[in-house]
Amino acid sequence: MLKSKHLMLLLLCTFLVSFSAEAQKKTIEQRVDSVLKLMTLDEKVGQLNQYTSAWATGPVSPEGNKIQEIKEGRLGSLLNVKGFDKTRAMQEVAMQSRLKIPLLFGLDVIHGYKTTFPIPLAEAASWDLGAIEQGARIAAVEAAASGVHWTFAPMVDIARDPRWGRVMEGAGEDTYLGCLIAKARVKGFQGKGLGNTDAVMACAKHFAAYGAAIGGRDYNSVDMSDRTLWEVYLPPFKAAVDAGAATFMNSFNDLNGVPATGNAYLQRDILKGKWGFKGFVVSDWGSIGEMIQHGFVKDNYEAAQAAIKAGSDMDMESRSYIKNLAQLVKDGKISEALIDDAVKRILQKKFELGLFEDPYKFSNPDREKQALNNPEHRAIERDMARKSIVLLKNENNILPLSSGKKIALIGPLAKSKDDMLGFWSVAWPDNSDVISQFEGLEKRVGKGKLLYAKGCGISDSSKADFAEAIAVALKADIVILSMGEKRDMSGEAKSRSNIHIPGIQEELIKAICETGKPVVVLINAGRPLVFNWTADHAPAILYTWWLGSEAGNAIADVLFGDYNPAGKLPMTFPRSEGQVPIYYNYMNTGRPAADNGTFANYRSGYIDMVKSPKFPFGYGLSYTSFKYSDLKLSSSQMDSNGTIDVSFTLTNTGKYAGEEVAQLYLRDQVASVVRPVKELKDFQKLMLKPGESKIIHFTIDKQKLSFYNNKLEWVAEPGTFDLMIGSSSADIRLKDKFELQ
Ligand code: GLC
Repeated sequence: MLKSKHLMLLLLCTFLVSFSAEAQKKTIEQRVDSVLKLMTLDEKVGQLNQYTSAWATGPVSPEGNKIQEIKEGRLGSLLNVKGFDKTRAMQEVAMQSRLKIPLLFGLDVIHGYKTTFPIPLAEAASWDLGAIEQGARIAAVEAAASGVHWTFAPMVDIARDPRWGRVMEGAGEDTYLGCLIAKARVKGFQGKGLGNTDAVMACAKHFAAYGAAIGGRDYNSVDMSDRTLWEVYLPPFKAAVDAGAATFMNSFNDLNGVPATGNAYLQRDILKGKWGFKGFVVSDWGSIGEMIQHGFVKDNYEAAQAAIKAGSDMDMESRSYIKNLAQLVKDGKISEALIDDAVKRILQKKFELGLFEDPYKFSNPDREKQALNNPEHRAIERDMARKSIVLLKNENNILPLSSGKKIALIGPLAKSKDDMLGFWSVAWPDNSDVISQFEGLEKRVGKGKLLYAKGCGISDSSKADFAEAIAVALKADIVILSMGEKRDMSGEAKSRSNIHIPGIQEELIKAICETGKPVVVLINAGRPLVFNWTADHAPAILYTWWLGSEAGNAIADVLFGDYNPAGKLPMTFPRSEGQVPIYYNYMNTGRPAADNGTFANYRSGYIDMVKSPKFPFGYGLSYTSFKYSDLKLSSSQMDSNGTIDVSFTLTNTGKYAGEEVAQLYLRDQVASVVRPVKELKDFQKLMLKPGESKIIHFTIDKQKLSFYNNKLEWVAEPGTFDLMIGSSSADIRLKDKFELQ
């Protein structure tokens, strides 16, 4: 008796809870509809209109009277306004409008807000999904505490061309890794869900295939098969949708001749149709109006028509919507229903954020004071920075440094604080709390004990300071060289045709190496660079990207072995720009050249350079070494509903505890469309003590064997698969084969 009473009570509670959640959701939809019914056409169009505020992150459009427009309900969102006070002030203006619809505040919180994290490409080198999610979480906590509702991140564009400056914003060249990182970042930004005062709306961008711009030239055309689009470039966006991304941002490029912002195939058929995306799409800065430049529309009237029809809900900065949408409705060119759909999507998010209940809930001075740049956040950032560093070379185990050595730090980036922030820094130009490499190292060796010389500039050709640098080097036991790009040589509109280390820096490296002193080179950049002489001659190299607020401390931790570097390259590093695009998961072709054959006669190679990259995808060394052994497959055959358990033993064979990222690659030997020579399908990052072994398991299932065939069907075809496990895409330690029946 008692039992059944409990059961009834449980069932009743379950019903009430689910009813209230459903009711809550229904309430928001009902409330959206009730607001929509009150809105004039002009007020509806106003919700689709977004301007920048304090500063521009694109071609500046003519100033209007934004305050007046907000009062008239002609603005739905502002970007580039931050701080509890400034966001509150703008929201107070919005509360003077007839319907008091709150503004959305958006900002490019790409890798941190006040606590600046490593650039996203550096974070990708950590292959540590938990750490990446945590970094986004902290960025959200700080941004939300300062009145920001919405970050224009994560950028999930797959990129295979290091000439493109925006590779620094993404997760590199691999779709599998890119999907996992997209999910981690969306979850980090949105936390326990919208409405929490420590969560911001994520924005998956740039939809779509922006990273495939021809020539690596920013904003350039993209032309590719639908198969490649679906197989390589779309999956990270789908991962973002599946992770619950609240918004999307479209891209500047045309895709196969149709600008993304006017591309109904992308935004309506795929995103809102097939994928069922319920959030809203914001155009990238001015991209709606730029369809005139593209030659896709005649004027802003046509641009507005094309964009709203194609599913662009909010117009960032082009003013095409605010000036034309109402007229388009009056002219019968578009139905008001199209506008209503866009408005409802935007209002839905404003309700979910809780802004109708309390427009000022995110503008809280106490929360801002407590959250920004606090010691806990900085400690986590320092850890993320260490994890992002990639050890490219360490001849004769020159690293880690032992204490007591006289160290010289030389180079144009040694004392830089600005550059540690990277291109998309919210904190910049305030770099006062950034730990420079000089400060981080001096803290370790003692005040006044670190020798220093600048040596040269970043891009100039003056050797005037070489002599001083050589003299300083001769006084030291070991020289650390800090070289690379400036922070604004990568990022948006920062494509480079020549991606060598700039200026005469490599000549300085050569001059210092010629002193005979042991040399460790730190390369700071937002992209893969070309540095063949250094790679061939410097005994030790660390790729230190742009590591953010704690850069100097993190680098010191690695140099002195407090942290054993474990980063793995998320992008291929070419030997020259002439090899680009170059990536690990290429097709074999009918005439494959040997990786290191110099003469490519009648082979798909170069007559003047080997085919292989300088450093491959997935590459990174450690202060210790690892052995891979005892590969076992639970079966050499599987059917399409089956799985194969793959196991092997990983052993730390060195004298330092360290982490290894063990990578699983597969190759479909024969298929209805040619398949890459290898594809990353799984990985595990784990810590091993010296001498310790662990058995690692991977599971092969149909999903890992599937691809889009030439009918765009997602299929796994019977046949033989090569299985490869390694420490990088080019360092395969264990191999086997299996059959899909
Ligand atoms: C820029 C970028 C985009 C950014 C937006 C707002 O042009 O392309 O990534 O979010 O404008 O700053």
